[in-house]
Amino acid sequence: MARMTTYRIRQMKKKGKKIVMLTAYDAPTAKLLSDSGVDIILVGDSVGNSLLGYESTIPVTLDDVIHHSAAVSRARPKSLIVGDMPFMTYKVSVEQALENCALMLQEGGAEAVKIEGGGRVVEIVEALVDSGIPVMGHIGLTPQSIFEMGGYRVQGRTKELTDDLIKQALALQDAGVFSIVIELVPTLTAQLITEALDIPTIGIGAGPHCDGQVLVLWDILGLFEDFKPKFVKKYANIREVITTAVKEYSEEVRDGKFPDEAHSFEMSEEETGRLYGRIKLEE
Ligand code: KIV
Repeated sequence: MARMTTYRIRQMKKKGKKIVMLTAYDAPTAKLLSDSGVDIILVGDSVGNSLLGYESTIPVTLDDVIHHSAAVSRARPKSLIVGDMPFMTYKVSVEQALENCALMLQEGGAEAVKIEGGGRVVEIVEALVDSGIPVMGHIGLTPQSIFEMGGYRVQGRTKELTDDLIKQALALQDAGVFSIVIELVPTLTAQLITEALDIPTIGIGAGPHCDGQVLVLWDILGLFEDFKPKFVKKYANIREVITTAVKEYSEEVRDGKFPDEAHSFEMSEEETGRLYGRIKLEE
């Protein structure tokens, strides 16, 4: 696979090719996703829930995402790397957004940034794109506004709310985003937004009509069981695989079965002889 670019992502919609996006926060996982042909790696602020033990994405800092994005970029994946801008790192002012998004590219090695919201964010997107920073939008449920939204609830459930989301999406497209994530909306809402846009939509909990799909990798691998949204499909049970391996290792260590000969190092015969000789001499 040739290296993915924002240009090729836009072309995929025109060619009717579905876009595959998944999250990664470290180098080996990024390499795995790239080798598996994933189009976009999102270094999501979901790193907060997935790896850092937070209950939401709100406590995640710019340094956190830059740290993980840099690890992803060191794997040199062919997939496009999108760095997710954390809570309040781009909404204070255009200047703040420009400085922080530049750091995501310069220090995090990301090739694009994702920012949440419509409305006021449109002006920020314009300034970023004008400065050469590719931007992915994110509308519908925007987890960084979870307290204001009153929880993880499906958005755009009425005609008026759907019309409003279409308006937001069109404004973001006009401002220059190369794609938009649509999260947790009815299938029809996502379909209408997708049809209204020239740029690709990438859905999460938004039905099958988006131009692409994104999920958190840990969720599809079945690593966590605490929280299982309806839109997540589990493609593996890695939790079970890890638990079985750890239990087996623990048992073998406790029974003295590990390490065995195959996993230990021998000394040459000559050195063994010398060593025993020395021990004899000392006796
Ligand atoms: O942070 C994240 O992983 C995301 C996706 C779930 C879209 O924003």
